[in-house]
Amino acid sequence: MSDRIILGHHIAGRSVAGPAAFAQCNPADPGDLRIEGPEASPADADAATDAARKAVDAFASAGVEARSDALARIGRALTSDVDRLALLIARETGKTLGDSKGEVLRAARLFDFFAGETLRNIGERFASTRPGVTVEVDYQAVGVVAAITPWNFPIAIPAWKIAPALAFGNGVVWKPSEISSATAAALMEIIAGSGLPAGGVNMLLGAGGAGGAVVAASGIDAVTFTGSIATGAKVRMAAAERSIRTQLEMGGVNGLIVLADADFSNAVDCAVNGAFFAAGQRCTATSRIIVEASIADRFIEALRTRVAAIKIGDPRDPATQVGPLAAPRQKQLIARQVADVEASGLVPLFGGSAVEMEHSFYAPTLFDGAPADSDLAQSEIFGPVAGVFRVGDFEEAMQLLNGNRFGLSAGICTRSLLHAEEFKRRARAGMTMINLPTAGVDYHAPFGGIAASSFGPREQGRAARSFYTNIKTSYQKPL
Ligand code: UN1
Repeated sequence: MSDRIILGHHIAGRSVAGPAAFAQCNPADPGDLRIEGPEASPADADAATDAARKAVDAFASAGVEARSDALARIGRALTSDVDRLALLIARETGKTLGDSKGEVLRAARLFDFFAGETLRNIGERFASTRPGVTVEVDYQAVGVVAAITPWNFPIAIPAWKIAPALAFGNGVVWKPSEISSATAAALMEIIAGSGLPAGGVNMLLGAGGAGGAVVAASGIDAVTFTGSIATGAKVRMAAAERSIRTQLEMGGVNGLIVLADADFSNAVDCAVNGAFFAAGQRCTATSRIIVEASIADRFIEALRTRVAAIKIGDPRDPATQVGPLAAPRQKQLIARQVADVEASGLVPLFGGSAVEMEHSFYAPTLFDGAPADSDLAQSEIFGPVAGVFRVGDFEEAMQLLNGNRFGLSAGICTRSLLHAEEFKRRARAGMTMINLPTAGVDYHAPFGGIAASSFGPREQGRAARSFYTNIKTSYQKPL
């Protein structure tokens, strides 16, 4: 029997209904679930912003302990609700049950971490160069933060934006992706039950138009965005026109170098995990597998064997390792990009347009021999698609790795300490992974990229404070 879920915005502690403007079905089983929701208008965005502004004042008068307690309560609620939430994520976005559970627990830990950070917003006090004068450095709330979040980590990415925003005393206007609105609404309900003032977090649903309305709302002080490169550019332009603080996390065409001296089976695991797990729908996924030519044929054969053993199937089945893409439109997009690669003359080693799969499933696809300036090497494909690039040595691998305008995550598999150290120094990326997949990061460490991948300060860990606070420097002369 099909479940129908009708969602509303959450503004100032109340649910606000509106005409259905979008729908999302279970991408593995369209008859299972239908989620509908409205599109936020500029008036909704203004109402949410006003509510968030009032909450900023309430946060300041209630003090840090109340906020820390509320964040800890959200963390506990997520943990105790993990099974229900994981099943919802699996049904709504196609993420496997195992990955979905892991993600809910990660979100819980993010709220826990920032419950602690709420109490650790510690400034500095030191002597001025002028005798008798002191200098204080204080980290103050920015005000109302807009958070625009994607569907691929539908609860962890909102957590790593909302938790630090609240920790440092900001109000939040949150616009989740329309592909993961029911998951967003479930998180919103937990946040609303945490004891925070109504309006501390407001959720506005809808597609790009709603995001545009949020960024255009006059009361927004900062916008944090994770999503596509194209949308990120629009957010940046709109925010720049109004001089709003901006943080963008977008895509990558992440490379994994595999040297001939690598632990072979670990390197195969890293490549398969990075390129194909989560159906390649991670901004940290591996798109370019850069292999020393002397082992390339053997490596490709091992990839083929390992990928053939992946259990692709219904994300609700605990045995499933890889689920579908998140929606039919994502499948159409990936199919178009793969067709373009094939039209350039490349034949997939496995997968590709010849493999038909039902609903939003897409077969893991690997190409070999794409030129360094090809689309496959230069543009992001947000699905289970990668290319093998053969190189003569470490030096050539580094040239290829860095010959790309993105710079989120980069990996190397090697037993050479020298090459690992050189790689960390020279890789043009915000994150480097040694003998590990390019995807998979800790919640207490800074996250982010360089060049075209990211803009603004880092997310997560202690680095998060720099986006969510204004530094106030005070000079004081006691008289
Ligand atoms: C991870 O690799 O564990 O959208 C996290 C994304 C990233 C998160 C990746 N912002 O895929």
